[in-house]
Amino acid sequence: MKSSLEKVQFFEKMEEQGVALTFDDVRLRTQSGSATELPKVIDIQSQFSREVSLKVPFVSAAMDTVTGGDMAIEMAKLGGLGVIHSAMTIAEQRTEVRRVKKEVNGLIEEPICVDQDSSLQSVLNMCFDRKFNFRTFPVVDGNRKLVGVISGKDFEYPDDYSGPVSSAMTPVDSIVVAPTGTSIEDAYHKMQSAKKNTLPLLSEDGTVGGLYVFSDVSRIHRNIDHYNVDKNGQLISAAAVSTISPTSDTMERIEALEKYLDVVVLDTADGDSFYAFRTLDQIKSTFSDLDIVVGNVSEGASARELAEHGADGIKVGQGPGSICTTRRETGIGMPQVTAVHDCVEALGNDFADVPVCADGGIAQHGDIAIAFAAGAHSVMMGRMLAGTKEAPGELFTRSDGSVWKRYRGMGSQEALLENAASRERYGAQGGVFLPEGIAAQVGYEGPADGVLSLCILALRKSMRYVKAPDIIYLRENTNLRRITNAGLRESHPHDVDSK
Ligand code: XMP
Repeated sequence: MKSSLEKVQFFEKMEEQGVALTFDDVRLRTQSGSATELPKVIDIQSQFSREVSLKVPFVSAAMDTVTGGDMAIEMAKLGGLGVIHSAMTIAEQRTEVRRVKKEVNGLIEEPICVDQDSSLQSVLNMCFDRKFNFRTFPVVDGNRKLVGVISGKDFEYPDDYSGPVSSAMTPVDSIVVAPTGTSIEDAYHKMQSAKKNTLPLLSEDGTVGGLYVFSDVSRIHRNIDHYNVDKNGQLISAAAVSTISPTSDTMERIEALEKYLDVVVLDTADGDSFYAFRTLDQIKSTFSDLDIVVGNVSEGASARELAEHGADGIKVGQGPGSICTTRRETGIGMPQVTAVHDCVEALGNDFADVPVCADGGIAQHGDIAIAFAAGAHSVMMGRMLAGTKEAPGELFTRSDGSVWKRYRGMGSQEALLENAASRERYGAQGGVFLPEGIAAQVGYEGPADGVLSLCILALRKSMRYVKAPDIIYLRENTNLRRITNAGLRESHPHDVDSK
């Protein structure tokens, strides 16, 4: 990263003094602006990993009270990403990850095809038996090669349904096709200009390798500016796994999820351990096409070594989380602003393509822009999202009528007792556990959309103050000032009665 000289000197000075900083220790310096006309819409796109980009640089935490399928779907629809926690069986996690991928059906990868010699009646029977609410199918010959398409209206005209599908279909020379691998945007333009409702994709040997349906494609096209989608127009999905140990099922888990996954997050309290490196090496050599983000670490040397082992993203944060007690219990952990900066600097130009996610400790909206100014590419949040409708868990009402949701650390006593994944994350084997988190409650905040919209607004507002047109500028050029306790007191409402 090409940090401004002022920022480099600021952190060097802190280092010389042996001081590490967190959000409440600093504020952003505004920048004079007469020469800078900012774009109407400030660009907040960023990266979570080498291959996975974000339209909105927010990621929901891999915690069992924050991210299941509902949250992951909502986060991706809002332009961000949700990392589905692993405190469930392989089959359950697969179901949740698959839900995300299938939520917006852009490309139908394995469309149901009908044989040209089947009778129309048999196709209608199949639709009835299997409760299909569609009647459009690619039609194939005995070698599975495309010979036509039959759609709903083709079933309206025949007097006799005993005839073959080939008698009612639109033949292949009258339909528009495209090769497999065609992106959803290309498909949209092709179907729009040809005014076609379907676009079969053909493999090199002429067999059917996919199908786009215009109603799906156009819905995604309308939302593509803000949904976070892959090249097929399906929502980006992420899932957490534990380090490999005699008691974990990491490789089996990834194998089961891989088909529906864009990025896997190796989630451990100590990302710089023998086990984390061994797991990273093994995942990389077995699933070479899958991005892997590894965490958590808080020292630059750890981040660099993970990148050298092939990590496609680094997650930074040891103990900043709202429900964390790691620092209290073990005395380790770097305050988050310094930790993020240290890791980004250590990755340097050699690993400038390995994004850093600042995980934990976002308590106020203003902390978000500070995390980016420290060098982060994305911000992971637990507490901010735990009180929303999409977070797993039931609402409960306190005696004063207020409505709450449970939010607990994955290293809390409660979670360690319940979840193998929590025990793996915190290396809690044997009979006695040392909890590194607490179980708590947060006020109910309604849909995640409302909470995230405010985070986005706040980030864009911060960026206007510091004259940052995009996240790259914010990361490289925004300068920080260290503040005192008096400055912090002044940062909050003071000397008034706000009740
Ligand atoms: P926030 O502050 O957003 O932090 O609530 C969420 C992050 O906290 C981490 N996490 C834990 N850290 N003990 C810890 O030391 C725990 O029990 C625990 N549970 C979650 C995790 O990185 C999450 O994203």
